[in-house]
This record gives sequence, structure tokens and C-alpha cells, in this order.
Amino acid sequence: MATLRLGDVAPDFTADTTEGKINFHEWLGNSWGILFSHPADFTPVCTTELGTAAKYKAEFDKRNVKMIAISVDAIASHNEWIKDINETQKTTVNFPLIADPEKKVALLYDMIHPNASENFTVRSVFIIGPDKKIKLTLTYPASTGRNFVELLRVIDSLQLTANHSVATPADWKNGEDVVIVPAVKDEDIPAKFPKGYTRVKPYLRLTPQPNK
Ligand code: BEZ
Repeated sequence: MATLRLGDVAPDFTADTTEGKINFHEWLGNSWGILFSHPADFTPVCTTELGTAAKYKAEFDKRNVKMIAISVDAIASHNEWIKDINETQKTTVNFPLIADPEKKVALLYDMIHPNASENFTVRSVFIIGPDKKIKLTLTYPASTGRNFVELLRVIDSLQLTANHSVATPADWKNGEDVVIVPAVKDEDIPAKFPKGYTRVKPYLRLTPQPNK
């Protein structure tokens, strides 16, 4: 499988999960989706990541984002591991975990990077829009757990910029001023951005977040 790029359709698949067999595209329906891979069951960083993800499920729900995780272990192993996650992370895993012992999904999504590990997936993240297209990818090594607050932040940016002619600046957080995209001419700004704008440079025009 060639590397998946932004704008590509997220490959469809059928797989067993801890919540039953799913067809990925059907399961996504009209929602956004986040698919994230874990190197292996019963590993320490992954345990904290899945526990943290479960604690943020309500925030993903609020944004209409369905969460699904994957590791190359089998369902029986996942189910045992989830008991440990619930116990140690003081939560309840509340989203499906794909079992991928034949590495079909891992290979389809290029989640195995042989120079990092022949057998385990790296920590990949795919954020998928309601059109089933890939909006964001991230790749972390096994040694570094992901930041789920950052994932929510980029979802806020993706959902905002999908609907308005704006982009979000460095370290932006939901509610802060945004940048008007260069394609919008100065003369069109008052109609498009009635809250006003600041013209710092011809190419750097800031406006209050339009959907707040
Ligand atoms: C972990 O999740 O803790 C982990 C998994 C594979 C290699 C290193 C750490």
C-alpha cells in the first residue's frame, strides 16, 4: 500500500473489534472518525493512552467524532487487556478496539514501519472527515504517548476551517482569533467576516473565530 496522503479516501475494511465485527465506512456513517494504532496489548504507554482516550470520549462525541483504536493482537487478548486498562486508569474503555492479528488493517494504513519494528504498529493517527477523506495524519514512535488534548484541538481546527475561509495560527485554541485565508480579497472581508478584522500585513489578517 502506498503511503496515505491528506485528501485520500480512508481505505475501507471489515474487521473484528471488541464491540463486534464492523465495516469501517458503514461504522463511520456520516460522522468524523479518529483511528489510532497501538504497538501491542499489555504495554505501559498504550495502557495510559487508551485510558486517557476513554476519559475524553465525551469531548470527541461533542465534536461528532467516532473513536476507534487498533493493535495487532487478537480479541481475547484485547478483552483481557481492557480489564487492566479500566482498573489501572480508573475508567471504562468506551470505544471499539480492532483486533488485527493478520495485520491486514495495519498494512492497509501503513502503520508498520519496519525500520522501527517489524512486528508492531507505530502510533499512527488518522482523522477522517464525514466525506471519508483523510484530514490529518500523525505518526509517533512507540516510546512517546500521544496528547489527546492536541487531537481535540486539531479536530476543532479541522472542523472550523472546513466551513469557513480561515486557518488557525500556531498554538491556536478554540475561541481564539484566526487567520483569514489569502484567497479572500480585502474588499470581500466585511461581508464574510462581520465581526471585523485586523490587517497586520497584507497577507496576515486576523479575525475573531467566526463560529463562536
Ligand atoms: C508501550 O506502549 O509502552 C510500548 C510499546 C512498545 C514499545 C515501547 C513501549
